[in-house]
Amino acid sequence: MKTSRIFAFALTLIVSLPFTVSADDGRVVLVTGANRGIGLEFVQQLKAKGFDVIGTARSPAKATELKATGARVEQLDVTDAASVAALAQSLDGVAIDLLINNAGMLNREDSSLDTLDFDVMERSFQVNSLGPLRVTQALLPNLRAGEGKTIVNITSRLGSIELSTGGLYSYRTSKTALNQINKIVSSELASEGFTNIVMHPGWVRTDMGGAGATLSKTESVSGMLGVIDNLTTDSNGKFFNYDGSELPW
Ligand SMILES: NC(=O)c1ccc[n+]([C@@H]2O[C@H](COP(=O)([O-])OP(=O)(O)OC[C@H]3O[C@@H](n4cnc5c(N)ncnc54)[C@H](OP(=O)(O)O)[C@@H]3O)[C@@H](O)[C@H]2O)c1
Repeated sequence: MKTSRIFAFALTLIVSLPFTVSADDGRVVLVTGANRGIGLEFVQQLKAKGFDVIGTARSPAKATELKATGARVEQLDVTDAASVAALAQSLDGVAIDLLINNAGMLNREDSSLDTLDFDVMERSFQVNSLGPLRVTQALLPNLRAGEGKTIVNITSRLGSIELSTGGLYSYRTSKTALNQINKIVSSELASEGFTNIVMHPGWVRTDMGGAGATLSKTESVSGMLGVIDNLTTDSNGKFFNYDGSELPW
């Protein structure tokens, strides 16, 4: 076989290799909004698998459960440019294999035009849409230095236009915007071997999901880690449910 064909074959193998979270191979994962809820569960499960985990919290001093996991804890408010820049500075030179943009907010008060509050709506876009983009941009050098080159943005099926039944103006629209942001970033970084996805965690019993939700944090996060484990570069840009099925835009 000619050298160029051997090179092309080897390249095909490299680009289709899945990112694996099942093996403890010293890979580094950063999770935002890691002091409670789904983010904390991600950290706990990843630490149990032996990964090097960095968990961020708006108030590290109060993040008792996060600190108890043994993860490296960093301060981060995803809406605050100075906080994001300080995180990037603190992590200068640290290769990150997987970024999980998990931090998010839900306002339940704006399900009608009568109650719509534009300040809350702007805040929701800052947290749910621009926050993940800010963090991705700031940590791009770290992600480029990592081998995993995987970015998972935690979205919601409520951001799907096709599945929309109305209500929750700020939450739905800010997650729809996140889905589009993921698509754009996935196109831009594809040639570098990145896999960027949006994933719905299911309806989960957290402060946000409430006690009546169908899934425990353990079920949701183990499902999502299974999805991440099976990602290939072919998954780039897609919208997954926590069980690995694809969701409509
Ligand atoms: N639970 C569900 O059923 C469900 C369903 C679909 C999608 N999701 C998505 O899953 C993700 C996690 O949700 P969850 O249920 O775990 O929610 P949660 O229990 O309310 O936790 C939200 C997390 O985000 C953090 N956060 C909020 N605003 C932030 C900001 N400006 N900067 C940095 N961190 C911030 C919170 O930090 P503080 O403690 O400082 O507030 C907290 O750590 C969110 O993106 C959510 O939209 C959840």
